Amino acid sequence: MPQTPPLDYHATSFSQGRMDFTWEELTPEESQQAYADWEAGKGLIGGDPRRRPNAHLLPPWGLNQPFFRTLALDDERGDNGARFRADLASDRPLEVEIGFGRGDFLLDRAPRHPETLFIGYETKIKATRLMLQRLVRLGIENLWISDDDCRFSMPRLLPDARVDIFHILFPDPWWKPQHKVKRLFSPPFVDLLAAKLRPGGLLHFKSDVKEYGELVRYLVEGRDEFSPHDPALAARIGDFAPTHREHWCMRHDRPVYAYYFVRR
Ligand SMILES: C[S@@+](CC[C@H](N)C(=O)[O-])C[C@H]1O[C@@H](n2cnc3c(N)ncnc32)[C@H](O)[C@@H]1O
Repeated sequence: MPQTPPLDYHATSFSQGRMDFTWEELTPEESQQAYADWEAGKGLIGGDPRRRPNAHLLPPWGLNQPFFRTLALDDERGDNGARFRADLASDRPLEVEIGFGRGDFLLDRAPRHPETLFIGYETKIKATRLMLQRLVRLGIENLWISDDDCRFSMPRLLPDARVDIFHILFPDPWWKPQHKVKRLFSPPFVDLLAAKLRPGGLLHFKSDVKEYGELVRYLVEGRDEFSPHDPALAARIGDFAPTHREHWCMRHDRPVYAYYFVRR
């Protein structure tokens, strides 16, 4: 991972209702510790993959499929690693969705943009297997998926300034304070997005949790690397299929909060 500046927290509270978004002021030492913990894999969904037995091997169902695991790129039983590396090294535009769930958004978007390469991360193995079956059945050839925690995988695999668009749609809020470490958005995560987005690249975020949107806006707009949220940037996404959660929100008349930030 590239060297990142110290965390720049301000004592700010987004406490509303059940959600606690209080961020404490950190000393420089505490900031460094926060980054070290993050790099060491604390809070990763499913635990640290480096500790899993046979972490260097792909599961049989993923062999020679558009599926990858960060630690298993050199598994010689399949051609996954070689093909994935070649795609990543190409100059095709790249879009990444984090937490694709059922995969409806990507399964619609990848065929719409055949010139673009897509990567989807989803830590739920069952959902990832189902998605793999769907994308193979649909004959989609510009989409790779992984069940790795994106916070483990992206620093290790994605070159800096490689990503054109990050889609982060309806991430889990992780309401309870003791679960906050699992919540996707934190200052180190915003640093990671800033490092991987190319200048002019887009961060596309949606949530039905108003306070989560406010937190994301606070964290992203506090960084010089991003321009302020601009709703007009929705045009860069164009037509899309709603995710499972967005579809649920539409059916239940629940408001959706969408944010668009450009990497300067
Ligand atoms: C609330 S669900 C939303 C799924 C889908 N985006 C939708 O809108 O229906 C959030 C998903 O993100 C996945 N997820 C959470 N943290 C993740 C991480 N660090 N890396 C990859 N996926 C993650 C979860 O497993 C979960 O399926």
